[in-house]
Amino acid sequence: MEKITIIGAGNVGAHAAVSAATLELGNVVLLDKNGDLAKGKALDITQSMALIQSDVIVTGTDDYKDTADSSVVIITAGVSRKPGMSRDDLLLINAGILESVVRQAIEYSPNCILIVVTNPINTMVQLAYDISGFSKERVIGMAGILDGGRFKYFIAQELNIGSSEVVTMVLGDHGALMVPLEDHCQVNGQPIAELLPRERIEAIVKRVQHAGSEIVNLLKTGSSYFAPGLAVIQMAKSILRDDHKTMPCAVYLEGEYGVDGAFVGVPVVLGRNGVEKIIEIHLSDKESAAFKISVEHIRERTEDLNNKRNIKA
Ligand code: 2OP
Repeated sequence: MEKITIIGAGNVGAHAAVSAATLELGNVVLLDKNGDLAKGKALDITQSMALIQSDVIVTGTDDYKDTADSSVVIITAGVSRKPGMSRDDLLLINAGILESVVRQAIEYSPNCILIVVTNPINTMVQLAYDISGFSKERVIGMAGILDGGRFKYFIAQELNIGSSEVVTMVLGDHGALMVPLEDHCQVNGQPIAELLPRERIEAIVKRVQHAGSEIVNLLKTGSSYFAPGLAVIQMAKSILRDDHKTMPCAVYLEGEYGVDGAFVGVPVVLGRNGVEKIIEIHLSDKESAAFKISVEHIRERTEDLNNKRNIKA
């Protein structure tokens, strides 16, 4: 059986473990610095597998040795937002956590594919890439699938149809400057501009960009976890089963979309080697302008982190 490690047994990590186990992607190792928390959640999830005649085992641990030879390592460790915080506010503290986690994880799984979920994702995945020294195909950030799911749901709700009938994507940064592709959004082949008035589309785009904060404000004690947990496992599934599914992920661009040297959300094909292909779609003028601003923000934040880390060093 495949081995999948999930680092961080908080809400996102635990839900990712449930999704991976339910899909029977392989045996799961759930690691947390609080070993008892990881063990408790792992026991609960494994016992739930017996209810659906699944033999998948989820092991909880605080010891990286137990993660050895994982095919995929998913990093969810880090602090999450409280009301009033942006993902960028988590920069320095999560960078420290990520650095230690990546070093230990790759020591035991040198051939794994790393998927980063820790916020702010586009900068944390760059850090994981720099620290690991892995090829760019093997370091990937989760975000576009989650944001795209939200966009589809809001459009579907507005039109009173099922989300599965909406085709669209969200690219760029995973933050308030993300780029929901409104000019690529279609329902049964019909552009949404023909189905909804301009002001409704703009309101939905804004809601997508702030959908994470909407949930943070309701929960008051943390951020979303059901959808992020499921989203990252959709990526792991395409990788482990070599499905070659196309999904938007944060990947290292070297010239694609006119961007050189940054992790940006774009559509990619995921298979056994990680990023099998970057798909370059033609963006409308409006989408392209928003994409440039989003990339600029990723660069500024990554530079900000590098400066802060240099000062600390
Ligand atoms: C969100 O968008 C947690 O960043 C995540 O809800």
